[in-house]
Amino acid sequence: MARRKKIYEGKAKILYEGPEPGTIVQYFKDDATAFNAQKKDVIEGKGVLNNRLSEFFMTGLNQIGVPTHFIRRLNMREQLVRQVEIIPLEVIVRNFAAGSMSKRLGIDEGTQLPRPIVEYCYKDDSLGDPLVTEEHIAAFGWASQQDMDDILSLALRVNDFLSGVMMAVGIRLVDFKIEIGRVYDGDFQRLIVADEISPDSCRLWDMETGQKLDKDVFRRDLGSLTDAYTEVATRLGVMPKNAAPITKPTLIN
Ligand code: TMP
Ligand code: ASP
Repeated sequence: MARRKKIYEGKAKILYEGPEPGTIVQYFKDDATAFNAQKKDVIEGKGVLNNRLSEFFMTGLNQIGVPTHFIRRLNMREQLVRQVEIIPLEVIVRNFAAGSMSKRLGIDEGTQLPRPIVEYCYKDDSLGDPLVTEEHIAAFGWASQQDMDDILSLALRVNDFLSGVMMAVGIRLVDFKIEIGRVYDGDFQRLIVADEISPDSCRLWDMETGQKLDKDVFRRDLGSLTDAYTEVATRLGVMPKNAAPITKPTLIN
């Protein structure tokens, strides 16, 4: 196979030039990082699970008319996506207080918020992705007012969709982060959901037990991250219950 051109390597994914102009191959690594990569590990099978889960969520969004970058899954670890110009913002939607919001505002984790709250962080690892306001976003030209209206509407539609899908399998969507990309169709630009949607970028709690089924398991050393992600995938029917464990390759004589 011809050597592919690597475009970008991030903490959890590698992007390669796609087979056609305007496409990208997104490869999901097993690397897990937290606290701006101060904590690092390799979690065997995480990339396979996130590739499947992101496919599942993005496909569902496409089907209900929320545009995403997802085109198709290529194999266990790779998917073909549309090339976008990433808006340098992490768009966070919160339904319950947790994580940095609980710390910042002194609200107990798990407290239901009066309504979904959308926050924006400036995507810059060297600064630790600081929280910014729409004033910063407008003044520094990261996105226009029209873009911000579209981003808010996309974020809330993703929240409604993901909340419903997760609730149907007994999981509470506490919060999540998405990234938004710009694409050009002729003279027009549109915004679409890009990057990934997976338990790396969501907080997911079992509705009965409160058990964490997301990257907090790794951040807070709460047990096996693969078990948690496999539980999410199994409940969603993304991985069949009796599938061979993805961490152990089957030996064929
Ligand atoms: P936070 O409470 O740490 O700000 O995280 C809010 C949500 O965003 C949570 O679902 C985890 C997700 N997130 C990311 O996807 N990437 C990040 O770098 C951080 C800090 C959070
Ligand atoms: N993804 C970020 C990091 O690697 C932070 C996080 O998810 O906690 O450091």
